[in-house]
Amino acid sequence: MKDLPVVIEDGQEIELEGWIIHKRISGKLAFLDLRVGPGVVQLVASKKELPAEAWQNIKKVTLESSVKIGGIGKVDSRAPTGAEIHLKDFEIIHLSEEFPITPKEHGIAFLMEHRHLWLRSRKQRAYLVIRNELEQSIHDFFYKNGFIRIDSPILTPAACEGTSTLFETDYFGEKAYLSQSGQLYLEPAAAAFRKVYCFGPTFRAEKSKTRRHLMEFWMVEPEVAFMKFEELIKLAEEFLSYIIQRVLEKAAIALEVIERDTTILEKTTPPFPRITYTEAIETLKNKGFPIEWGDDIGGDEETALSQETDKPLIITHYPKKVKAFYMQPNPDNPEEVLAMDVIAPEGYGEIIGGSERINDLDLLKKRIEEENLPREAFEWYLDIRKFGSFPHSGFGLGIERTVAWITGVKHVRETIPYPRMLYKIYP
Ligand code: 4AD
Ligand code: MG
Repeated sequence: MKDLPVVIEDGQEIELEGWIIHKRISGKLAFLDLRVGPGVVQLVASKKELPAEAWQNIKKVTLESSVKIGGIGKVDSRAPTGAEIHLKDFEIIHLSEEFPITPKEHGIAFLMEHRHLWLRSRKQRAYLVIRNELEQSIHDFFYKNGFIRIDSPILTPAACEGTSTLFETDYFGEKAYLSQSGQLYLEPAAAAFRKVYCFGPTFRAEKSKTRRHLMEFWMVEPEVAFMKFEELIKLAEEFLSYIIQRVLEKAAIALEVIERDTTILEKTTPPFPRITYTEAIETLKNKGFPIEWGDDIGGDEETALSQETDKPLIITHYPKKVKAFYMQPNPDNPEEVLAMDVIAPEGYGEIIGGSERINDLDLLKKRIEEENLPREAFEWYLDIRKFGSFPHSGFGLGIERTVAWITGVKHVRETIPYPRMLYKIYP
């Protein structure tokens, strides 16, 4: 089975530490696989070429034992990862107890309970290598384009995305909430730096048990001063295309390890198809969904809409009542806001949500009142509309849903090292 490789130089003396993940002894020959880092290399041992103690160690070594080996590298296209090491020495650092995860099939509940050990498995390593490439591509995109990274706080006094999904905590006798989004803190920073982004964990007490929802997920959010809605859509197209193409290039081997068909991913280039919310509702009605103008578009509806295209789909101009309080109204229809969601192909749902923001002080005050939000908690946020107010826009991309789409893995729980799920916080 294909695994991530370790770079080995032909004919070189090599010393490596790692963990044994496979062992087969036939007579006086032994074949082992060593996990060195994310990558794996095959070891070949012949009894007569090894000190007696090293051969004894190979015989007694158990799976997931940590070891130190020495040998000669040999590039060999027939080896599963393109190279092998001919052993000259084999030392056990720690003899592992019987490892609970075996190559046989395990149920998902068992694997999730052993997530700290499951991380070592072949596909799990590939998923997280892909996640790492995605995160790096995000930082590189913003760095190249002159954005300043702003680290938003995690403990906050107010809601950003509605009060129904807040995790509440005690802050020295006051109420505080785990951040749902760094956006409110980016908007003031945009007045200082113009183009900013944040990247961090965000929290939603979502009582929904779906394959797309986590209680704790990572979000990247750009916010740009003087950027209007149309330019925001262009930024989302360029950003998403860049990060997908970069991951396809840099994580090509990991994508092969998980046998991901990347045909559709390769088509991620600007421009993306666009429809308005109103058009989306018409399409959904024609497909037989019991949905009316004003209803939110849910997961199944998103999947149905994304089936029409191989590229990410942009839906714009949502009804104001299904979106957050800070969104700029559509000048042509005050019941709508200048919001956009980007729906991933292949049924992975909404991966980006964003909008132009309200920059008029009175209108923002009115919206905070209409939504029954506590005005005191937002005074500082209103300040941005008092001191050199400016049009601005931004969006947020969910890392786990994006990794799920890139890897083709069904459930977001495998796209983050330690998922936080409904009623589950172990390990
Ligand atoms: O659409 P959302 O709620 O947008 C915001 O939070 C804005 N404040 C962002 C902004 O404009 N700066 O969330 C953005 C994205 C979603 O499109 C989705 O990819 C992801 O975050 N997301 C989740 N991912 C996993 N589990 C959840 N419970 C998620 N909720 C949102
Ligand atoms: Mg959203």
